Amino acid sequence: MDKKCAVILAAGEGTRMKSKKPKALAEVLFAPMIDWVISAVKESGIDDICVVKGFGAEYLDAHLADSCKTVLQSERLGTGHAVLQAGSFIEKNGGDVLVLNGDAPFIDAKTIYDALALHRKEGNSVTVISTEIDDPTGYGRIIRSADGSVERIVEQRDASAEEAAVREVNSGAFWFEGEALMRALNALSEKRASGENTKKEFYLTDALEEIKSYGLRAGSFTAQSADIILGANDRVQLNELNELARRRELEKHMRAGVSIPCTDGVIICPGAKIGRDTVILTGSVIKGDSVIGEDCTIGPDSLVENSTIENGVSFVRSVCYSSNILSGADIGPFVRIRPGSVIGKSVHVGNFVEVKNSTIGADTKISHLSYIGDSDLGTGINIGCGCATANYSGNKKSRTTIKNGAFIGCHTCLVAPVEVGENAYTAAGSTVTEDVPDNSLAVARSRQTVKKGWVKIKQPYKHKI
Ligand code: UD1
Ligand code: MG
Repeated sequence: MDKKCAVILAAGEGTRMKSKKPKALAEVLFAPMIDWVISAVKESGIDDICVVKGFGAEYLDAHLADSCKTVLQSERLGTGHAVLQAGSFIEKNGGDVLVLNGDAPFIDAKTIYDALALHRKEGNSVTVISTEIDDPTGYGRIIRSADGSVERIVEQRDASAEEAAVREVNSGAFWFEGEALMRALNALSEKRASGENTKKEFYLTDALEEIKSYGLRAGSFTAQSADIILGANDRVQLNELNELARRRELEKHMRAGVSIPCTDGVIICPGAKIGRDTVILTGSVIKGDSVIGEDCTIGPDSLVENSTIENGVSFVRSVCYSSNILSGADIGPFVRIRPGSVIGKSVHVGNFVEVKNSTIGADTKISHLSYIGDSDLGTGINIGCGCATANYSGNKKSRTTIKNGAFIGCHTCLVAPVEVGENAYTAAGSTVTEDVPDNSLAVARSRQTVKKGWVKIKQPYKHKI
């Protein structure tokens, strides 16, 4: 009784997208539209999902990996034909079957859930999720009989003038009782084969009238928001979907206490969490499951992806991928933090510094023009200007360790694997290839020679006398 599953239609090309990938992979806030649909379906409590793929199936396979079942529709003959390809999935799962379009990202869990409750309460064999819009052009119209019950769905191209004026439209999402759905699709398929139905495409929408003809019930659930039907046919419309989703996310954060004084170029993806009194400045993009604490300043012009930033961090004109930045750190401008890094409390990382797969202890300063890769740095260290860890031999990566309180002179090259001890110093311009003991100074450069009077003797070109 309680069994339910979902079929998501995603075989269409979306010709006007002018893409090599299927339309359902076009992205809204950096997530393919089909991911939005899958999340809503899962959030509504459905775990058995089958995606119908066709055009660019290899891209969908690569994207979905093993997260959903898939079935191939090798010819795009219409939405009814698409669902029929998932016939064995539907028969195996049985129960209530949700069918929905993979290119309408704003369908939500509550609409799906509430529609199912109504579908079951009314004992329907099909429940279409509809909505009313001002301009119904292009959508299937919901045609009701005199008593108000749903009679059939008429597609734009088959609608009479009177039908075309109806503003209640099919969202493309339906709840079906599995057996009734399969019976209707098989019957519609036979009618096409026998030439009884001469429509160009095999419409899923015709299943509603067919099911009614068996004396079974058809109903409708009117969605609260008309946004659930929105899709994109080209990249201009895709931009409109992005704008809508972007604005929604920004407003959610602003209402929760995040300041965004100017929203220009600010994109915050749905997975992100941001604390109170944090300020996000123009041109900043927060992607993936990033968590940002309170009282931070992010931006302008920054990118934070799948990272955690604790309270009170200043992050200016910098990028950070899959890393953690602890409280009070001061990052930027022009810093690149690559995956696997932990930037400690109150650390300062300044202009043109790259940190990769490294741990930086509290209060350490890496102020300018340095590369710290595959390294473990303690606390209270000072890294001079222009230092580099030579972490790659050409075939092997090695780590560098710098202990608490060390002082790395400007332009030191630390050739890994190497360790600089506690409170040790390296002289400016040193190439350090051997470990430096605690409290010691390493000088690893040739001694300066001064050739007195050389200019007068050699008379280089600028100083001809
Ligand atoms: C469909 C509905 C229409 C509804 C609208 C909502 C039909 C006949 N019409 O029209 O009533 O108002 O959605 O957006 O169902 N697909 C396949 N295989 C195919 C054809 C389509 O997988 O052979 C997929 C597409 O990739 C897409 C979905 O089905 O995800 C809908 O197809 P589309 O061609 O966009 O139908 P609409 O014209 O939008
Ligand atoms: Mg469509």
